[in-house]
Amino acid sequence: MKVLIVGGGGREHALAWKAAQSRLIDELHVAPGNPGIGGFALCHRGVKATDIEGQAALARKLHADLVIVGMDDALALGLVDRLHDAGIKTFGPTKEAARLEWSKGFAKEIMTKASVPTARYGSFTDYETARAHLEREGVPIVIKADGLALGKGVSVCTTMAEAEAALKAAMLDRAFGEAGARVLIEEFMKGDEVSILAFSDGRTIKQMVSAQDHKPVGDGDTGPNTGGMGTYAPVPAYTPEIARTVQKHILEPVIAAMADRGAPFVGCLFAGLMLTADGPKVLEFNARFGDPEAQVVMPLLENDLLEVLLACVEGRLKDIHLRFREGAAANVVVASPGYPGGYPKGLPIHGLDKAEKLGVRIFHAGTALDDNGVLVTAGGRVLGVMAVGADLREALSRAYAGVEAVQFEGKQYRRDIGWRSLSKLKKTY
Ligand code: AMP
Ligand code: GLY
Repeated sequence: MKVLIVGGGGREHALAWKAAQSRLIDELHVAPGNPGIGGFALCHRGVKATDIEGQAALARKLHADLVIVGMDDALALGLVDRLHDAGIKTFGPTKEAARLEWSKGFAKEIMTKASVPTARYGSFTDYETARAHLEREGVPIVIKADGLALGKGVSVCTTMAEAEAALKAAMLDRAFGEAGARVLIEEFMKGDEVSILAFSDGRTIKQMVSAQDHKPVGDGDTGPNTGGMGTYAPVPAYTPEIARTVQKHILEPVIAAMADRGAPFVGCLFAGLMLTADGPKVLEFNARFGDPEAQVVMPLLENDLLEVLLACVEGRLKDIHLRFREGAAANVVVASPGYPGGYPKGLPIHGLDKAEKLGVRIFHAGTALDDNGVLVTAGGRVLGVMAVGADLREALSRAYAGVEAVQFEGKQYRRDIGWRSLSKLKKTY
């Protein structure tokens, strides 16, 4: 079959790499793709992920048998609806189903209706009312812009001054544009954070292996938040018992609630969970694979990815038995100097061959080929270095050996990916 993947980040590289191994694949296209993906698939550099008409025209021209949409903005802009209108099979939720991600307030309403455990919250469109609520609740507290804000719309506040500044920035200064027209003020939850990606055909939902991201830029979870500096899978704290609770009290009720509304969720539902002392609770939903979660989940998935995605699109997921290999995967993000603030572009990248000879896989994110065909940096998160191993320790030590081999001026990475689980493992022995 002919498959088109929409996007060009590390997540799409991981999805494309896995799709390329499918027994069903004849032609693999990615738009816009990136230089890493260009090594094994056809990239359409000129078609941006958010160019809805461009993507639909490309899918038609290619006679794509399946399109995979995993980019939040494209989902919120209704790319999946547009492709459905054109009669093209698409893996990904419609705009209405993707509302679970693009409106945090909507996600809360669904959770309340379906009795899904999540943080207590208030929702506000009026600044003075929000401020009064804040005064009553006190700190620690979490302030969230309702809409999509590039992962930057959430402030976890430990002082009243911080909370007031966050509320003002979102509601009065409109630091996140219209995304801040509505703000949620949420109870602060404590515990281990886990990312659960799950395939859904709109009725049946099946979990993939658990993963953990590292959002702050600095070691020990210090400094400003980023899109994610590294991931590993599975997360030992996410026990089979917790997985059953999540299935029964979170994933299944949400999928049923969306179907009841006439907006069945077909695609990858990503639940960001906090494992609190009172059990797992939802931090947020995303309507797509995580980035960089996909970079560790795909390497552990044993099934043929396209078989699973087709089963979702065709409503046959209940017949699929998901299998994940034993062991662990780790992905360390190598970022540009200065990220998540301003950073230079165009720095030559060396050592990828050397790294790959060490047994790691490189997933490109912010890379480009310059006019002379030299691979250079082109984004904040430049690439991910992923390795699998018999256990987390082995996967991490392999990935870090690969990171050492990758060279560009001022490269930045966290040296402690996996630390929460490693410190717990140490305690056990
Ligand atoms: P979100 O985009 O909603 O996942 O929030 C981004 C990050 O903020 C999460 O990964 C958590 O680390 C933190 N966070 C969000 N909501 C809460 C909460 N209610 N309690 C504690 N931390 C939170
Ligand atoms: N890694 C978090 C996300 O994809 O939103």
